[in-house]
Amino acid sequence: MRRKVIIDCDPGIDDSLALMLALSMDEMEIAGITVVCGNCPTSMGTANAKKVLAYMNRLDIPVFAGEERPLKREYADALDTHGRDGLGESFLSEVQGYDQDMGAVEFLSEILRKETCAVIALGPMTNLARLYMTDPEAFGRIEEIVSMGGNFNSRGNCSPVAEYNYWADPDAAAMVYKAAGELGKEISMVGLDVTRKIVLTPDLLAYMKRLNPEIGAFVEKITGFYFDFHWQQEHLIGCVINDPLAVAYFADRSVCRGFRAYTQVETAGVCAGQTVVDFTPESREGLGGGQGTAALAAVNFYGKKANSVILTDVDREKFFRIFFSGILDKDEESLDLISALTGGIKG
Ligand code: RIB
Ligand code: CA
Repeated sequence: MRRKVIIDCDPGIDDSLALMLALSMDEMEIAGITVVCGNCPTSMGTANAKKVLAYMNRLDIPVFAGEERPLKREYADALDTHGRDGLGESFLSEVQGYDQDMGAVEFLSEILRKETCAVIALGPMTNLARLYMTDPEAFGRIEEIVSMGGNFNSRGNCSPVAEYNYWADPDAAAMVYKAAGELGKEISMVGLDVTRKIVLTPDLLAYMKRLNPEIGAFVEKITGFYFDFHWQQEHLIGCVINDPLAVAYFADRSVCRGFRAYTQVETAGVCAGQTVVDFTPESREGLGGGQGTAALAAVNFYGKKANSVILTDVDREKFFRIFFSGILDKDEESLDLISALTGGIKG
């Protein structure tokens, strides 16, 4: 069933790959793209979203500029990771026009009051928090939130304990998770525990270029800087493409497994941005045997109803089949090297 979705993002290299994937998937209709201050300033992210839409010939999709700074903390970009232009220093030509006469939060409020939409959140949660503060009714109408962010057992990428999207605006993340709990909603947290296993390697990129030279070359153009960053920072050959996994999971829940829990986000001090996931060993036992996320009623320490689904395991081969077939426009069955190139890693 084709679902309406709003993609809230901070493009950003992996956000751009996520947008390309979302545009290719029949499972979703993108009602709009909202941009938030994150990897790059909101104005740059808005321009980059339009660059990606122009490349994909989809400028029919509206892009709305959102919050330009976090709720309370100083804004901290990630241009060191994404390049001076936020797109791997590919310096794609600017797209003139296609400006909207309202901001992201106003768009979210308007569309959610009229239509049923889910939100795939790929950046800091500032826009969503502002929506909750200004129009809680519209926020409550969000069909579902799938968020790339946070971490459970995996170390942070902005501090020993915090992932960038939640570290950049911990007050927003804390507010959104708290609101979800009060509304009886469960945010799917596609965090570093699963995204760190999604590494676009040189071999996978070479395969992309063989399968679809034009798209492969574009992906190479915007990820070159990201490959260098990962080598310098993590001595990794390849790059972690976090955001496309959230899109793939939205479309096919079998790509990840996890458990339900009550999650809070620390907002201050040395652990700011840390996701504090309340589960007990019992809630983990059901992870095996393909019980997936639906079966578990997390038994937790605080006795609070779950407000999140914490994804901890990913089928890497399945993800790359979805990713490649989507953005390269290939049948999954034709992707004969995916298994060898992903090492059949499940975990
Ligand atoms: O920590 C990774 C996340 O932060 C990704 O969404 C990346 O694009 C940045 O927004
Ligand atoms: Ca992002």
